[in-house]
Amino acid sequence: MLVAAFSRDLCDSWGSSVKIRAVPWLVLIFLQTDDCRLTTAGYNWRIKSKAPKRTRAGATGPPVPEKTDVRLGRIVRLLTQHATVVVSGTKIAEEIGTSRSEVWRLVQQLRGLGVEIAGHPATGYRLKSVPDLLLPDMLASLIKRTIFSKNIHHYYKIGSTNLAAMEAAAGGAAEGTVFLAEQQTAGRGRGAHTWESPQSTGIYCSVVLRPVLPPSDALILSLAAGLAVHAAVQEVDARIDPDLKWPNDPLIDGKKFCGILTEMNAEATRVRYVVVGIGINVNQASFPAELREVATSLRLATGTEWSRVELCAALLKSLDREYRDLLDKPGAHASILERFQEHSTWAQGRPVRIEENGGFEGVTEGLDTRGFLLVRTAQGMRTVLSGTVRAK
Ligand code: BTN
Repeated sequence: MLVAAFSRDLCDSWGSSVKIRAVPWLVLIFLQTDDCRLTTAGYNWRIKSKAPKRTRAGATGPPVPEKTDVRLGRIVRLLTQHATVVVSGTKIAEEIGTSRSEVWRLVQQLRGLGVEIAGHPATGYRLKSVPDLLLPDMLASLIKRTIFSKNIHHYYKIGSTNLAAMEAAAGGAAEGTVFLAEQQTAGRGRGAHTWESPQSTGIYCSVVLRPVLPPSDALILSLAAGLAVHAAVQEVDARIDPDLKWPNDPLIDGKKFCGILTEMNAEATRVRYVVVGIGINVNQASFPAELREVATSLRLATGTEWSRVELCAALLKSLDREYRDLLDKPGAHASILERFQEHSTWAQGRPVRIEENGGFEGVTEGLDTRGFLLVRTAQGMRTVLSGTVRAK
């Protein structure tokens, strides 16, 4: 009761949601049943009203996205394994446990999705090139022994993988469940931003985690996700050395190529579940004029196309490493802070402007033990709990 009264004082009613600004962690007691969006550093929470009930097309509300038929991935894997030969419809039908006419229907579906398959039911089928689709069958074998290999959900088109993951987590989805999409129609960014998610050019990935951690450690998890992106990019192309802008904007040449959105459901002392959503601009060849100055892609940075499958596997492997270390290894928390600062030109000695609570300017002085950004100002040292950091 006492906590609720205290919290109400700190909340602004705002349409159908409630916004809490720069409040102590104690307020989380009030948030027991709500999902929270860790917008920047954990102190700017937006408690969303319950998501509207989703209905099938035809009824009111957006259509439920169709999960990809797992047999499509099996056909692609089978054809990839026999890349140089024609595989008969009968063999494919036997392998995936269906009829030849159903195989034909599935092959047509794959063609519709841009997979180049030669042949027809009478002659058999041959893959003209290996498709770069994030199909569970293509990924699972590359991420064996990670917590992410067992439950991978793939969609050709979805509103937001973060929303799907949060809903699944609320319904009991296991730790390590992964949601991937070729395209998002309502990709969510931090604050009120959206995330541009065109078809099959980027990676749109959300994972469900159930860490035994206090909610105050969620920021460390977010910083660790930035380090995982850094490691994955370096694994695929060591020439690219992303710069991590606090709290978790990976940049190349000062432009953003990746966004990380961490959302969580927590009690006062315990995290129930966290969804880490990562969007990477991989093969975009250009951006709309209004984004050109601030956004880039790995393709634009290197001049070559990247394999999304390879990068996504590297990402899930490095995220698995960071996460397991954080839970199991003494010293991992300190190591995350140290490595984040190593890979960031923003954390130390950078003149910045912080756009929050009226804004202020100063020079960065590293991260504190919780991962918050320290900024020396004319009035003294300030700890940045949330807000956008901009170069001054
Ligand atoms: C940011 O604003 O920087 C965060 C952007 C996060 C985008 C990713 S794409 C996959 C996942 N699903 C979403 O709806 N958002 C995140």
